[in-house]
Amino acid sequence: MVLRLRLFVSFLVFATFLSADPLHAIENIFKPLATPADLVSDLSILTLVICAGVFLVVAALLLYAVIRFGYREGDSRSEPPQVYGSNQVEIAWTVIPILIVFVLAVATARITSAVQDQKMPKDAVNVTVIAHQWWWEFRYPDLKIVTANELHVPVSTEAHRKFTFLTLKSADVAHGFWVPQLAGKTDVIPNRTNTMWIDPRETGIYLGNCSEYCGTQHAKMELRVIVDSPGDFEKWVAAQQQKAGAPESADNQKVFLASACIACHTVSGTRALGRSGPDLTHLMSRQTLASTEEPNNAATLRDWIKNPQRLKPGNSMPTIPMSDAKLDQMVAYLTTLH
Ligand code: CUA
Repeated sequence: MVLRLRLFVSFLVFATFLSADPLHAIENIFKPLATPADLVSDLSILTLVICAGVFLVVAALLLYAVIRFGYREGDSRSEPPQVYGSNQVEIAWTVIPILIVFVLAVATARITSAVQDQKMPKDAVNVTVIAHQWWWEFRYPDLKIVTANELHVPVSTEAHRKFTFLTLKSADVAHGFWVPQLAGKTDVIPNRTNTMWIDPRETGIYLGNCSEYCGTQHAKMELRVIVDSPGDFEKWVAAQQQKAGAPESADNQKVFLASACIACHTVSGTRALGRSGPDLTHLMSRQTLASTEEPNNAATLRDWIKNPQRLKPGNSMPTIPMSDAKLDQMVAYLTTLH
């Protein structure tokens, strides 16, 4: 008992610690902020209310039977009369559940088709989401932007509804794209293209994660949807469309371009054209590192490059042996990529 209490207390402390860390803040999943999430929320409330009704009726009948017909002092110990066959009861407990299932099935089908059949207006923002073990690649084919783990989209207002249409693909295994306040989960499956859309109503940061077990670092495959005002979104687009600027130090850039890093990473405008890792052209415009695990700054970046397997063991980024001096130059170059 004492052990249990201790475990519970340490759980509470742990939970408080987690929610106090802004990088891992858990937002309120009961507050939907986009149409698909509204619909899912309405459906789950309807389902909960119906199920609660069923529970109350069954529990009340059970309680009544236990209290009213339980054994009492002086009752005979013989078996009570066995009653068999009542057409009314048989019909009632067949028809009522059928009606309940029918109502739930129709409501689910209506909401599913309302989400799937939504026509996308011409000005919808198109994003191709590519899930990797264990990070998210976001490509904006019309805007010619490639980024990772932080998806920028414009806010949708009453006056001007603005949609973002997502095309979901996987580079390796099955993943799941889930931002609870924006929409339901959508599987991301190799050799298959799934689609979904969002129209977030409030600007800010929405947290999401991978909802399908995809290997050892599945839990560290979080993402952020950053919902911008129309002006901020335009600014972000314009900044992302720039090629990487001239390096502050050609020597620092040389260290990067001579490393094995360029086999997997792109810095547009240079000969680093690798595609299997996150695009680094505007690395420092991202708030976080390693699929939102850490804040993105020179110190965390240095740690990450020095030993990528410490934070996320098993990830595809190898440790590339290099002197501390070279590592400093590498970080100095990367931190100029705004
Ligand atoms: Cu990707 Cu779980």
